[in-house]
Amino acid sequence: MLKDKKIVIGITASIAAYKIPFLVRLLIKEGVEVRVIMTPAAMDFVTRLTLSTLSRNPVLIEPFNGSTGEWNSHVELGTWADAMIFAPVTANTLGKMAQGIADNFLLTTYLSAKCPVFIVPAMDLDMYNHPSVKNNLELLSSFGNRIIEPQTGELASGLSGQGRMEEPETICRLIDDFFAKQDDFAGKTILVTAGPTNEKIDPVRFIGNQSTGLMGFSLANEAAERGARVILIAGPTKLTCNHPSITRIDIISAADMHKACLEYFALSDIIIMAAAVADYTFQSPLEHKLKKSDKGLSIELVPATDILLELGQMKKTSQLLVGFALETEDELNNAKEKLKKKKLDFIILNSLNEERSGFGYPTNKVTIIHKSGKIIEGLLKDKKTVARDILDAILSYT
Ligand code: CTP
Repeated sequence: MLKDKKIVIGITASIAAYKIPFLVRLLIKEGVEVRVIMTPAAMDFVTRLTLSTLSRNPVLIEPFNGSTGEWNSHVELGTWADAMIFAPVTANTLGKMAQGIADNFLLTTYLSAKCPVFIVPAMDLDMYNHPSVKNNLELLSSFGNRIIEPQTGELASGLSGQGRMEEPETICRLIDDFFAKQDDFAGKTILVTAGPTNEKIDPVRFIGNQSTGLMGFSLANEAAERGARVILIAGPTKLTCNHPSITRIDIISAADMHKACLEYFALSDIIIMAAAVADYTFQSPLEHKLKKSDKGLSIELVPATDILLELGQMKKTSQLLVGFALETEDELNNAKEKLKKKKLDFIILNSLNEERSGFGYPTNKVTIIHKSGKIIEGLLKDKKTVARDILDAILSYT
């Protein structure tokens, strides 16, 4: 899949930079056209001559070549590349990428990328585990970048832990897999719902839930990267998405989500309902702020429409409908029950009893259940990888 692809490799100042000549060689052997960019500080770790010899192209470090007056255009590289691999990426560059800082040629090129971007961090374990680094990685991931996580093992400092840059052979294989899957949803329209809904009580209060939307956004990004046209109906969330194939529709309440789903349902080949939609709402929210009193308060709720149930009844045989089930007890049986009752093709079981899984975590552990009875038990993985597994399962039935 790599033959004739155009790939930019961006190297920053980490000791793992010594492995990049191997990555360049592997890619060149596969028939890739490689352009290497380095930060000035990366030159202390690996030579420009080695990289230009192996990549068969000059190595770019500055926007201009002072001696020849030649101008290197980051914008041109941004449109030229089929993929960019930033490896190794230090905590410093990671922070700048996340915040849109562009104080060197590598960073201006990153901001100009119009292609899929792979970020391969490498740093000492305590730096990697620092909350600011974790936040930056989450932010970069929410922009649609693919993070190739570091491995656990002996580090250059002599310490042992997570921080070792992934090996060049694995990076090369992951890029190859990516191109192999790139167009496998081409021609499909996929409707994804994500995030919570907020049910208004009065002008200042609502009933919501703890969904962040990350699972749904990961599904939307993955589907778009694999060639689908995506309609993302999102409840209130801080997440952003910028893939050109995603049309985002922001909603607030279960009733808004219902309306938006009905509008786009007929257009969609695959419908994935990952949102945590309210089961109950208010008939009519109060016009003015509810005043406190020294008595208890009870407010009457009415059932919200079960959107998935309704879509299951409307579904054509050419459409594939996927629901989620969030369970805390008798998980498998409850999920199977929902699959049958709502006439779904798949149900994705999310158990709140699993550690580091579900609302608020960057990771998830799901069980994918097909209506035929086939069950795929997942491992705890980052939500992007879980999204990939779910789409792989869907693809095997389309
Ligand atoms: N769902 C929906 N409309 C609702 C509530 C839920 O479309 N008003 C969808 C969710 O998007 C999810 C699936 O139904 O795909 C299951 O949601 P879940 O909360 O697990 O189950 P419920 O059917 O709401 O049942 P319960 O809360 O009793 O477990």
